[in-house]
Amino acid sequence: MANDASAVSDAPSSAVSNSPLADPFSPPADSSLWRKNFLLGAATASYQIEGAVDEDGRLPSIWDTFSATPGKVLAGDTGAVACDHYHRWEADIDMLASLGLEGYRLSIAWPRVMDAAGRPNRKGLDFYKRLLNRLKEKGITSFVTLYHWDLPQHLEDRGGWLNRDTAYRFADYADLMSRELAGTVDAWATLNEPWCSAYLGYGNGHHAPGLANDRFATQAMHHLLLAHGLAIPVLRGNDPASQKGIVANIGRGTANSDSAADQRAAHLFEVQHNAWILDPLLKGEYPQDLFELWPGTEPLVLDGDMQTIAAPLDFLGINYYFRTNVASDGAHGFRDVPLEGVERTQMGWEVYPDGLRDLLTGFKKTYRNLPPVYITENGMASDDKVIDGHVDDAQRISFLKRHLAAVDQAIKAGVDVRGYFLWSLMDNFEWAFGYERRFGVVHVDYSTQKRTVKRSAELVAKFLKERKARV
Ligand code: FCB
Repeated sequence: MANDASAVSDAPSSAVSNSPLADPFSPPADSSLWRKNFLLGAATASYQIEGAVDEDGRLPSIWDTFSATPGKVLAGDTGAVACDHYHRWEADIDMLASLGLEGYRLSIAWPRVMDAAGRPNRKGLDFYKRLLNRLKEKGITSFVTLYHWDLPQHLEDRGGWLNRDTAYRFADYADLMSRELAGTVDAWATLNEPWCSAYLGYGNGHHAPGLANDRFATQAMHHLLLAHGLAIPVLRGNDPASQKGIVANIGRGTANSDSAADQRAAHLFEVQHNAWILDPLLKGEYPQDLFELWPGTEPLVLDGDMQTIAAPLDFLGINYYFRTNVASDGAHGFRDVPLEGVERTQMGWEVYPDGLRDLLTGFKKTYRNLPPVYITENGMASDDKVIDGHVDDAQRISFLKRHLAAVDQAIKAGVDVRGYFLWSLMDNFEWAFGYERRFGVVHVDYSTQKRTVKRSAELVAKFLKERKARV
């Protein structure tokens, strides 16, 4: 019953309408996006879309606990139902395919597939097997993230990412998944955005598990990266044909003035946002400036850890959303100085495509061993409404066009970017902001679960159709 397609009556019959409007999305003729091997897909994450939180043996995750805690999530929203994707996955994959999207980035809910003793949960595993097999049948490239923030609560009860043992439990989980799912996954990403897990989860408490201490953040980060490094050889052993990588969210920091102090502040902003993760992964060391910003927060690192963390990668996933303008805080740090009169999204995030290009070209210079890059998330939230059966998300269309142009510029500057995933396939549970912030290229009416393809998705589909038709 859980996967009965007939239960879904509201899937769109045809994704692409014949609108007379001019096409405000299509990339210029010389754009690298016209290359057929540039993968264009969409992304989601388990807790944000699946729902069915206590079905088929799924255990509680830290996000169930956090969102049930009053005051943590806007409007008291939780992921208990979300997009009901656990039951509607077939129609959702049909929708993805009808848009012509070539790649799908999803995540596996750890608490759905393993019990507290580390034994497999067959029903949970079968859900992902069916889903991945269907993607394969449809010729859609699958990018599977093992950890998109839904840590089993029983592991948090034993210290979560502050406990080194969690890294070893993660390697066990990676082992089970890659044994069970080998052959159905094109690319594995160990972690999604360790910056958010470590800093928002343990540094400022905005995300689950809600702890707030800089020292906790650096230790959690170390264990997250260690988990990643332990998992990479396990994934290679069990599923040699797939690509292995990690997904990092990167942030652009710009200085509010030319003063040396403000320039230093912008540098430190990027150290904590980018180098904190990328230096260990690609250079095998933490950036020392991090500990000038947060004195006395050096994590406990055991012999061999940095080597484990720096395991070679097949790809680096990059998530990019906005820039932060900063000034010196007068001490050893930075403070945000929001710019006036700039374009912003429903999140209040500044629309700043140049930041994506500048970071990508900068990484190419900083990291000689920078692996091939996929933009694993980029997109924006807007207060989209369905009017007469349509959603005209004009700001998103322009946002996507400009960010894809920034990616093209980075490619032309020599960065090996191989693909781009829209965040997100559909509106979903946006963490601490609940359901108010709509990031999807497909609209979800949460009272009926009706999906409505937004104008942005129609235009992406139109472009993909044209690209495919080219000789
Ligand atoms: C990223 C998350 C993703 C989504 C977007 C808007 O930080 O990876 O789940 O919430 O932000």
